[in-house]
Amino acid sequence: CGIVGYFGPSQKSVEIVIEGLKRLEYRGYDSAGVSFIDQNNKMQFYKKAGKLDNLKAELVGKDTIARACIGHTRWATHGGVTDVNAHPHNNEVLSIIHNGIVENANEIKRELAGHGVKFKSETDSESFLELVTYYLKQDVPIKEAIATSFKRVVGNSAFVILYPKTGEIFAVKRGAPLVCGVNEVTSEALVSSDPYALAGMVHTLYFPEDEVLVHLSGENKNIANFYELDLTKTTRYLSKKQDMSVEVSEKGEYEHFMLKEIHEQPGLIRNLTQYYFAGEGKESLEKVAAYNPERIYLSACGTAAYAGLVIRDFLEGINRIPSTVELASEFRYKNPILKKGDVGIFVSQSGETADTLAAQSICKKAGVKTMSIVNVDGSTLYRDCDDNLLIRAGVEIGVASTKAFTQQALTGRLMSAAMAGDLKDEGKKVKLTGKFALLAERIDKLLLKSDEIKSVAESIYNKKGFFYTGRGAYFPIALEGALKLKEIAYVHAEGYAAGELKHGPIALIDEEMVNIALVGPELFEKTVSNVHEIKARKGIIVGIGPRGNEELMGLSDFYIPLDFDGLEELSPLYVNVVNQLLAYYMAKFKGTDIDKPRNLAKSVTVE
Ligand code: G6P
Repeated sequence: CGIVGYFGPSQKSVEIVIEGLKRLEYRGYDSAGVSFIDQNNKMQFYKKAGKLDNLKAELVGKDTIARACIGHTRWATHGGVTDVNAHPHNNEVLSIIHNGIVENANEIKRELAGHGVKFKSETDSESFLELVTYYLKQDVPIKEAIATSFKRVVGNSAFVILYPKTGEIFAVKRGAPLVCGVNEVTSEALVSSDPYALAGMVHTLYFPEDEVLVHLSGENKNIANFYELDLTKTTRYLSKKQDMSVEVSEKGEYEHFMLKEIHEQPGLIRNLTQYYFAGEGKESLEKVAAYNPERIYLSACGTAAYAGLVIRDFLEGINRIPSTVELASEFRYKNPILKKGDVGIFVSQSGETADTLAAQSICKKAGVKTMSIVNVDGSTLYRDCDDNLLIRAGVEIGVASTKAFTQQALTGRLMSAAMAGDLKDEGKKVKLTGKFALLAERIDKLLLKSDEIKSVAESIYNKKGFFYTGRGAYFPIALEGALKLKEIAYVHAEGYAAGELKHGPIALIDEEMVNIALVGPELFEKTVSNVHEIKARKGIIVGIGPRGNEELMGLSDFYIPLDFDGLEELSPLYVNVVNQLLAYYMAKFKGTDIDKPRNLAKSVTVE
């Protein structure tokens, strides 16, 4: 879900909020709404199911001159996708926006119903609205009413509250993203769930810690003030200059952000070694070089978890440190066996995924050193971990992650090098830099031949189902390839260990099923023999393998040749780009919404 709130002198607060929400569109949502204080000091609100454009259409011709505004894009958890269930939730004295879950909503609602309160929506969010209102009606001042109510609600949430009586905005959170931005020149302040919404609008960003009440008003000459829940002033926030550029949100020559982001990979790969060996990242990598754990626990969700598998292969293969990867949603509830002195690595693009944050918190409490491999600098995960390695992918807008996966895996490779002592050896650093550059060069060449992949996509996109298969280091790539296809083309796809297919799924193979066979130089013969098994059952074979290999070419209905020489352990990341393009073009032939696929959200801040 996305939140944007504006407080300041501009009369265009509604436009500013809508612009912020537009930037958050990429995160995925199913309804949107705004509320604001109009010229007559009256609160207005508009809410619409569907895209932001529906809300914009609703606002056409309306008087939207307003001095304070809050807006939201919702990704439904409790309650269906309807206008009523969209945020903000309002009554005659308050308007609120909520990201997250109020776990004791029913209990609060029952209690308030006993006092005659009537509820309009099915959402848990309304329990908070009516709780604050209940205190206000007992003449409790607004700040105290919010603080007391927030102490009552159980669960991870961020709330933004617009108080029409004074036009002030409040915000508070626990375990959910929230950022406040201030433009000191224009005296404007904004709050959001994502700093990206505020790029170019503010100069300073403040990331409040949990249970810090943010108050946007002219109070104490500061437009933004921060309080503990006992209403004493606090400095429990991280502040930093806002330096993100707005241009990142442009697609340029590309039809989709996903395609743009796929093409950004070679440049990003080249910059990564520079950043860590000779640039600002040096210090953070040196810290990691001192790690000497007996075990490493990696935990993440979605694509980041598959990047975790690639990183595990580096850590086990190169460093010989026993390492496990667990989906964060499983890890957090499995009572994991953790030992002090071990290391927990949390991989994430956003740094805000609720399950990943919970996994980190469990490790931290157990005395395990926690480290992130993360894209968003200053995100919750970044702030919570002991150490961080930034993946330097820039803003990723496409919901289906591409460049972040590659950068996560490569940052893991640099971590593995650091732990192996390679930072002290110039020769080894030069060699690794060369290998990264070679990967970038091979991807560049591959991108020039995108049309060949596009024509394969055209031939197979309407087939019944897809098995991505690979062995060893290609197995995680098979999982990630299938996930990409599912996410954006809405077809059934599975990633399988090539040797395991015969233990069940081979029953599904017929002439309408496609096998995307990932066959790198490692375990080549073994993987080819699995392709034979599928071919014998009339499956359609898309071979992705070494250039000039007659046997595999002969077996394949379609063949995508690759040049693996010199890439060694980075080869899987090269194959992965073929999968990204295949998924992209199949989705394009299907006509789906590639950058914002249905039902998905870029950043899942609920468990
Ligand atoms: C969502 C996204 C996925 C992503 C996952 C983890 O489900 O749709 O693309 O891989 O969250 O997100 P993170 O920000 O932690 O990498």
